[in-house]
Amino acid sequence: MDKKEEIPAKDYETGLDIARRYATQYLFDFYDILLHEILTTLVDRPATIMSLFEAARWAPSSYNNQPWRFIYAKKNTPYWDKLFNLLAEPNKVWTKYAAVLVVIIARKNFEHNEKYSITHQFDAGAAWENLSLEAYSRGLAVHAMQGFDYQQARTDLEIPDNFDVMAMIAIGRKWPKENLPLQLQETEQPNDRKPLTEVVMEGQFRK
Ligand SMILES: Cc1cc2nc3c(=O)[nH]c(=O)nc-3n(C[C@H](O)[C@H](O)[C@H](O)COP(=O)(O)O)c2cc1C
Repeated sequence: MDKKEEIPAKDYETGLDIARRYATQYLFDFYDILLHEILTTLVDRPATIMSLFEAARWAPSSYNNQPWRFIYAKKNTPYWDKLFNLLAEPNKVWTKYAAVLVVIIARKNFEHNEKYSITHQFDAGAAWENLSLEAYSRGLAVHAMQGFDYQQARTDLEIPDNFDVMAMIAIGRKWPKENLPLQLQETEQPNDRKPLTEVVMEGQFRK
């Protein structure tokens, strides 16, 4: 099969509709939320934010080592600025409307023998995706970020050397695109994904 040939998506429905919804989230999810609304969702019912972490902690991992750790800060708490200040300026523009920020870290070695775990980052990736799918199923939105100061995160949050700093995520409530600053509205486009023909290979690597 020619690798450029498009496989019709309808032939490969996964049943995990939420994965597709996730893939069509726009950056404007967090650009403008009514802060009190999201706090009602996440603070008045504190189980909600913990429900997201609960989903994350059930991710599979090599030797069930569960290398992921989550350092979070809710808006209007003393911790917020600490995490927010780590972010690159372009990310601050829209994350300031988010309700929760999280730094995800991963323990480098297995706990049972302290040998290096080659999959610790892979495992933490599974956990964040679990979290994001749980969030979307609850009508919230999650956005991952690498645009922050990794070294400052290690220092400011006192993250020990045996953990890798993986990514930050912002959690909030989706809000209409029209609420974005005009400049950001213009750059907002739905994201697509590469076709299966480009990313799936039978038997061996195909250039
Ligand atoms: C690990 C990771 C880091 C990312 N870093 C940033 C970032 O710093 N700033 C940003 O605006 N988007 C960031 N993104 C968002 C991606 O650009 C986005 O997920 C991708 O373009 C697909 O879009 P979608 O999630 O809306 O489908 C990041 C995503 C991931 C998974």
